Amino acid sequence: MPSLLRIGVFAAVLPWLLWHGDLRLTILGLLGVLFLSRTLRLSEPPWLQARDVRQDLARPPPAPYDPAPLLNREAGWLLGLAEGRPCYLPGPLPHLQVVGGSGCGKSAALGVWAAQALAMGEGVLYFDPKDDLWAASALADAAARMGCRFQMLDLRPQAPAQFNLIADCDRHSLYDLLIHGLDLLESGSDADFYRLADRQGARLLADAWRPGDTLATLAARSLASLRRKAPALCLRLQEIAEIAAAQGRQGPRIAELLQPGSACYVLGSTRLDTVRRLQRMLLLRLIQCAETRARPVAQPCCVILDEFRYHLCRGSLDALSTIRDRGIHLILAHQSLGDLAAGPADLDARAVAAAVHENCALKLVFRLQDPDTAEWMARKSGQVTQVRRHGQAWPGSMPYLDKVSEATGPWINASTLLHLAPRMAVLYGHGQARELAQSAWRCVRRPLSAEAVDDSRLQPDFAHLELRP
Ligand SMILES: Nc1ncnc2c1ncn2[C@@H]1O[C@H](COP(=O)(O)OP(=O)(O)OP(=O)(O)O)[C@@H](O)[C@H]1O
Ligand SMILES: [Mg+2]
Repeated sequence: MPSLLRIGVFAAVLPWLLWHGDLRLTILGLLGVLFLSRTLRLSEPPWLQARDVRQDLARPPPAPYDPAPLLNREAGWLLGLAEGRPCYLPGPLPHLQVVGGSGCGKSAALGVWAAQALAMGEGVLYFDPKDDLWAASALADAAARMGCRFQMLDLRPQAPAQFNLIADCDRHSLYDLLIHGLDLLESGSDADFYRLADRQGARLLADAWRPGDTLATLAARSLASLRRKAPALCLRLQEIAEIAAAQGRQGPRIAELLQPGSACYVLGSTRLDTVRRLQRMLLLRLIQCAETRARPVAQPCCVILDEFRYHLCRGSLDALSTIRDRGIHLILAHQSLGDLAAGPADLDARAVAAAVHENCALKLVFRLQDPDTAEWMARKSGQVTQVRRHGQAWPGSMPYLDKVSEATGPWINASTLLHLAPRMAVLYGHGQARELAQSAWRCVRRPLSAEAVDDSRLQPDFAHLELRP
């Protein structure tokens, strides 16, 4: 018998039972009504649906929106839209990790973060090894709107001289830069023995440094005497010295790029090994400059590392845990956990992943392509108890609750992360993980180029030296 009918029957006979004074039956009747009404209670707290992939795929993507009018320095950092309303993070921004499969909108979101950092009065350095279609235009547009100075550093071999990587170095910082940048660090393997001569060569080079030197002039003056003893050092340094971009006699000072109101876009390469090395050396030089700033730093600087796998080195990894104190917060983007294992051979992949996960308190996860990354992120979203209610129904009657079971599972499951709609991302690290709509920085795409300065390799005395452009 449908339970609604049963309740009706019980409720109808109760007054009759009471009238006849049968107390035991009356109490039994009351208990029966209570029990049955409990099974039908419609005010049960909402329970969590076990989502399946069809529900995930059926969700429409959020509408694109213009983030510019939503930026609000007082409210904090715009994290995205939750049900159409902007969601802000007050206070300083911790290191942020942006993860998602190719084409899901990471670089688009980075453009908005860069614009926000400028709006907050910070300097921005945007490292792009991939030559993104929109990134430079978005940063240039944001800089123009916020009244900041935009400059581009193009590290590719065909670009002209633009800056001097080792301007303002001293012998200690130059030695450190050479050891880290030219991969001469001790790795704990037999290869360390063969690196000793190269390290010794780096020491001699650092001693030979004179104010005004570029890597090219330093190498040209000093390499002849080192070539036999330290071949690896000489070859790598010569390769770097042949890239004009970092051999400028003038150009922006690296420390200036950290200043508020500066927006610098660094264009590198994902493929050319020497350009990747120069990219890492520039990042290391920035870290060195940040380390010499007086603390506490009045205004932080935002360093964005798109395609993080190409920036992986011991220096950038150490920076993750130390650089926040020096007024730099990092935003790094990559596609999957596998990218964190793609660093140089002397980096332990698990240690890299641990350092990134530990230090990036905030994570923004777009639609993932890699199930392992999705499983990891699902576990990270935390466990919830899912209450499953099992119902029954007779033909033509209302369903009624038959039994309740409980199961624990992730708050956001892996399938959801693998099927997020375009422009939708899950934010971790600000309360409970939740989905927020993201958008791109609206701008017009335009060609941008780096500003050329004098090439130190073209100065008259360089012609007598060993390296020529
Ligand atoms: N500022 C922008 N304005 C308009 N569209 C943009 C902007 N930035 C990116 N897009 C578009 O957004 C889409 C997502 O691209 P995006 O480059 O952000 O993906 P991605 O996650 O960085 O991919 P990949 O890992 O391959 O670099 C692309 O269609 C791109 O053309
Ligand atoms: Mg990208």
